[in-house]
Amino acid sequence: MDVKIHNEVNKSADIDVVLVQTQGNGYKFPNTLDGEQKTRLSAILGRETTLSGHAGSNLYLPAENGEERPLLLVSTGDAQDLGSDIDKEHLGAAIYDALASKKVRTANLHADHFSNRDVALMANGARLQSYSFDKYKTQPQQGRLSTLFATVRGEKAACKEYEQMSAVTDGVFWARDLVNEPGNKLYPESYADDICHHLSGFDGLTVNVKDVDALMEMGAGGILAVGQGSVRPPRMVVMQWQGGEPDEPPVALVGKGITFDSGGLNIKTSGMQEMTMDMGGSASVAGAMMALAKNRVPHNVVAVIGMAENMPDAGAYRPGDIINSMSGKSVRIVNTDAEGRLVLMDSLWHAQKEFNPSTVIDYATLTGASASIFGGKYGALFSNNENLSRQFSKAGKQVGENVWELPWADFKGSLKDQGADLAHKGGARAGSSVAAAFLNQFIEAGRNWAHIDMAGMAKTDGMWGCGLGPCYPAGATGYGVRQAVRVIENGLKVNGP
Ligand code: BES
Ligand code: ZN
Ligand code: ZN
Repeated sequence: MDVKIHNEVNKSADIDVVLVQTQGNGYKFPNTLDGEQKTRLSAILGRETTLSGHAGSNLYLPAENGEERPLLLVSTGDAQDLGSDIDKEHLGAAIYDALASKKVRTANLHADHFSNRDVALMANGARLQSYSFDKYKTQPQQGRLSTLFATVRGEKAACKEYEQMSAVTDGVFWARDLVNEPGNKLYPESYADDICHHLSGFDGLTVNVKDVDALMEMGAGGILAVGQGSVRPPRMVVMQWQGGEPDEPPVALVGKGITFDSGGLNIKTSGMQEMTMDMGGSASVAGAMMALAKNRVPHNVVAVIGMAENMPDAGAYRPGDIINSMSGKSVRIVNTDAEGRLVLMDSLWHAQKEFNPSTVIDYATLTGASASIFGGKYGALFSNNENLSRQFSKAGKQVGENVWELPWADFKGSLKDQGADLAHKGGARAGSSVAAAFLNQFIEAGRNWAHIDMAGMAKTDGMWGCGLGPCYPAGATGYGVRQAVRVIENGLKVNGP
C-alpha cells in the first residue's frame, strides 16, 4: 500500500475516512468537511452508539443520493486513548483493516484536525498493517487497498515526518520478506546477493561478502563447521554505514543468519518446518542498516552477519568434534542443533577485531527457551551494561517491540569442558542464559554488549509465533528493525548515568 500526503482531498478516491474526535459533548471534525456534512454527521453520531467506544471503532455510511462516495467514520477514542506514538500507529492499523474489509482500492483519510506528525504515524501504522507476502501465490488476492491519500494541515512537514518513518518501515518490510522466504529460495549465497542488491546505491554504505575461502583465511571455524554439512556454502556479510564523524567508534550489529536449521546430525524431531525463520536476527540487522542509510542517521554503524545452512550429511560436523573459533578459543560441539552460537561467536569476534566498536548488539533466534518463557510478548535481553539494558527497554517501549532482561553471568560454569576451552552445552535448563553466557565468551573485556534472543518474536504465526498484533500482520514480524534503529537514533549513551 502506498501513502500520498496532500493538503487537498483526492476527488477520485473510492471512500472517505473521517476521523472523529470527541470534544466535550460534541465532536471535532476535519476542516475538509463542509458545514452541511458536519451537521449531518453530528446528527448521525448523536443517535449512533457503535462509535462511542475505543479508538479504531468505525461506522460505514454508504453513499446516499448525490454523494460521491461512501464514508467510513473512525473514532479516535478519548484523548488519552491516543497518547503515544504506538497508539497512533495502532489507529492507522485499525483504519487499514476497516478499509480492507470494504475491499476498496483507494481512500481519503481526512485528518487535518490532527498534527502532521500524528497523521504520519497513522499512515505508517496503516502501511505496517498492509504487509503481506504473496510472491509465490499464482493468484494474488484481489481488491487490496493500494493507496491511502491523507489530507493534512502542512503537506511538506507531514511528508517529511512520514518519509522518515517510511524508511524504517521499508527496512521492516525487507526483513519480513527475507524471513518469509523458504529455505530452498534463500540460502547463504542468495541471501548475500539479495543484501548486495538491496543495499547498493547508498552513498556512505558499503557491503562486503566473505566466501568460504575468505572464511578459511580468517579462521572462522564456527561458521565453516555449521555450514559444512550443506551443499550450500556459508557466507559472512559485512556492512558499514558511515553516517557519523570519521573518528566516532561505530556501533556493531551482529545477526544469526541460519537460512535453514534442520538441527544437523542432532536432527530436529519436531518443528523443523519453522526453521526457515532462523535467519530472523540477521534480517533485522540488514533491515536496520537499510533504514539507517535511507534516513542518513548521523552515527557510524557496522553490521556482521554469519550465514550458514545447518544440515545433516556425510560431511556434517559431529557431536563431540572440537573446532577452533576465530578468537582462537577451541570449542567442543555437544549438540549440532546449538549452531547459532557458533556462527555468532565468529561474527561477534570479527565485528570487534575489524571495527573496534563502542557497543556490540546481536540479534538471534537462538533458543526455543526464550520463546517459551515470554510467549511472544518480549524478546529476551542479555547485557553486560545496565545503562545499555535501560536504553533497550526504553527504545522497545517507544516502538512497540519489547524486551525483558534475563541473567547470564551466573551460567558460565556450564561451559566447562575436559578437552577444549569451551563446551557449547545446551543444557536442559536455562537454555537462553547458557547460550548468552557462551556468546559472552567472545566479547572482549570493556566492550558494551547486548544480546537479544528473539526466537519467539520473528513470526506471528506457526508453532513459535508471537500472535497477531496491530502493525504486525500474518507471517514474519521484522522484530528488531524498529528497535535497533531507535536505540541508535536515541544516541546510545552507555557510559555513566
Ligand atoms: N534455531 C533454534 C532455536 C529456535 C527455536 C528458534 C524455536 C526459533 C524458534 C536453535 O538453533 C536451536 O535449535 N536451539 C536449541 C538449543 C539446544 C540444542 C541447546 C533449542 O532451543 O532447543
Ligand atoms: Zn538449532
Ligand atoms: Zn538455529
